[in-house]
Amino acid sequence: MRIDIITVLPELLESPLSHSIIKRAKDKGLAEINFVNLRDFTTDKRRTVDDYQYGGDAGMVMMIEPVDKAISYLKSQRDYDEIIYTSPDGERFNQKIANELSLKGNIIILCGHYKGIDHRIREHLITREISIGDYVLTGGELAAAVITDSVVRLLPGAMSDNESALSDSFQDGLLAPPIYTRPADYKGWKVPEILLSGNDAAIDKWQFEQSLERTKLLRPELL
Ligand code: ADE
Repeated sequence: MRIDIITVLPELLESPLSHSIIKRAKDKGLAEINFVNLRDFTTDKRRTVDDYQYGGDAGMVMMIEPVDKAISYLKSQRDYDEIIYTSPDGERFNQKIANELSLKGNIIILCGHYKGIDHRIREHLITREISIGDYVLTGGELAAAVITDSVVRLLPGAMSDNESALSDSFQDGLLAPPIYTRPADYKGWKVPEILLSGNDAAIDKWQFEQSLERTKLLRPELL
């Protein structure tokens, strides 16, 4: 899978996408993550990507021309399955969308900045708009990093068996059960007896019941 992220701040994306499972997925050739600097598609000396809003309201707007040029350039190199714009008014990101995106071949993520982007970009160039939650970030980079991280870790081979996504919260529509490691007794705070029993069937049953219980308690709307 290839993800091209169009941004004015590639530095913001480098560290979050250079470690752990994501680094491994890139090293194994499962995912190619490429940063495209929007300023490389400007024509003026100051490499301007924003301008004043029509209508007189406060706040700068990302201009259509550099974005169109960046997307056209990428599209001239290969086909894309999805061109995503990260925005607080997009559809709310969740594990289902992460699963869906992990099945795509090539995607572009456009990171918004300033007050937002010229609406014609959304009308004519973007295929999907995604929000990572009902709050406003300074720019779309952190949202793009969240989306990319959650998608790339799902690629077959990205995780080892014991990191498997199958036991993640939300993967089966439930929150994950509680987990523990040694010591079995810390200051009298004990690991549930069942997990030490060696009885796999009983452990599976307990974990499922715990998942159900936690989901009912913390996120009943998921059920
Ligand atoms: N850009 C600014 N805020 C955002 C959010 N909540 N989700 C996605 N992109 C954003």
